[in-house]
Amino acid sequence: MTDKYMELVNTGATKKLAKLLGLPRPPRLRRYSEQGPLLPGPLLVLGNSARAQELSDTLVSWGLDVCRHDAGDAKLGGLLLLLDELVHPEELSPIMLAAGRALRQLLPGARVVSFSRPATADDEPAVAAVRQGIDGIMRSVGREMRGGATANGIVLENSTSILSPSALASLQFFFSGRSAYVDGQFLRVRNDQGVLPEDFTKPLTGKVAVVTGAARGIGAAIAKTLARDGAQVVVVDMPQAGDSLVKVANAIGATTLQLDVTAADAAQQIMDHAIGRHGSLDLVIHNAGITRDKLLANMDAGRWDSVIAVNIASQLRMNEAFLKAGLPNLRIVSLASTSGIAGNRGQSNYAASKGGVIGMVRSSAKLFETNGGSIAAVAPGFIETDMTSKIPLGTRTVARMVLPSLMQGGLPQDVAEAISFLGSDAAAGLNGQVLRVCGQSLVGA
Ligand code: NAI
Repeated sequence: MTDKYMELVNTGATKKLAKLLGLPRPPRLRRYSEQGPLLPGPLLVLGNSARAQELSDTLVSWGLDVCRHDAGDAKLGGLLLLLDELVHPEELSPIMLAAGRALRQLLPGARVVSFSRPATADDEPAVAAVRQGIDGIMRSVGREMRGGATANGIVLENSTSILSPSALASLQFFFSGRSAYVDGQFLRVRNDQGVLPEDFTKPLTGKVAVVTGAARGIGAAIAKTLARDGAQVVVVDMPQAGDSLVKVANAIGATTLQLDVTAADAAQQIMDHAIGRHGSLDLVIHNAGITRDKLLANMDAGRWDSVIAVNIASQLRMNEAFLKAGLPNLRIVSLASTSGIAGNRGQSNYAASKGGVIGMVRSSAKLFETNGGSIAAVAPGFIETDMTSKIPLGTRTVARMVLPSLMQGGLPQDVAEAISFLGSDAAAGLNGQVLRVCGQSLVGA
């Protein structure tokens, strides 16, 4: 939240007053810092899974203080629920009631994460019931969290184990401050692909990454985050944004490419620049995007066509060229939006483009995988940027406050963290994924 409200309701005398008046008090979120611990306190692991002991050993090697089954009265930094072997809803009771007691011991910024299996039409009815029920549980628990704590789940598809690289990387992501604004969401691990980084603070070491629309807002935050995580970055934006683009580049040692992503040869220019200047192209972030809001009844061709051209047609064209060039191990992460999932009044053109990104990502997963690559999307909800600062103040305030437990918009940094994670080799098993970074809201641009 960029305004002073959060500061006022969380500090000193004004905090007391806000409490007295019953004003909503958005918590400070626990965001990532390289030096900070993975969790703010001990981790309680409940439930059982075939490789629980090996998982426990891994968690200890991450520096976590792990308690199995019971943590007494200790304050907790996290709660891990191993639910992947349950076969009937009646088995939920002991674990969930123990989890409920543990929730009262959570520290601010704590994390609750579940491991489960997907419910499919081929499952026995009771098995499918418990698996789908876990989806409902985690989304509900997310809405019950306080103090900036969150709840998310990891779904293990196709008999992947809790120790597969992308399962462990997802767990790291959900535990860490990198997932501060991800709440009530699931990551689906599709296979055992992926390589864990030697150093979780530098997951993109040696990678060359291109970020479009990087002169400001979310794109600038993505460029900075990828550089922090070890990548050599190329920042791309329109020629008219050249000055801001150079500032972003100078701050992180990136190179610049002035380019309209709707140009027919945009992909070729990107490949020429990245490979010519840096030796390879490993990661492309399709972030450039525009809004031209209007009720459909008042929509004109200019608004409709420009949004489709920038937000989706350019990405389809570029991806086709990247695939044709056969770049090995290329990872793509696109910017979708919760508007493309839930719709938003006045945004039928934007929703078409962002729903389009989601469709494109799901269908392109198999194409990129052929060459060892992957594609994913992040769907932000309400993020505080120049784009959303144009929304009238009243609507903006409502958009922040309806978020059930976090009560605030996200920051560009929150989107950038998810993108860096999904663009890393450790996330290869999450190919085709769409992750919402929305504080569990469905309101937003
Ligand atoms: P912004 O408007 O602050 O920045 C967008 C950047 O893209 C600008 O620097 C602009 O010059 C560049 N750009 C636009 N058209 C371009 C083109 N044809 N070629 C090259 N660059 C171009 O937007 P913001 O808020 O940072 O959004 C970034 C992405 O995140 C967009 O795709 C947006 O749709 C998406 N998003 C944003 C949300 C929010 O709450 N701010 C929510 C959901 C999605």
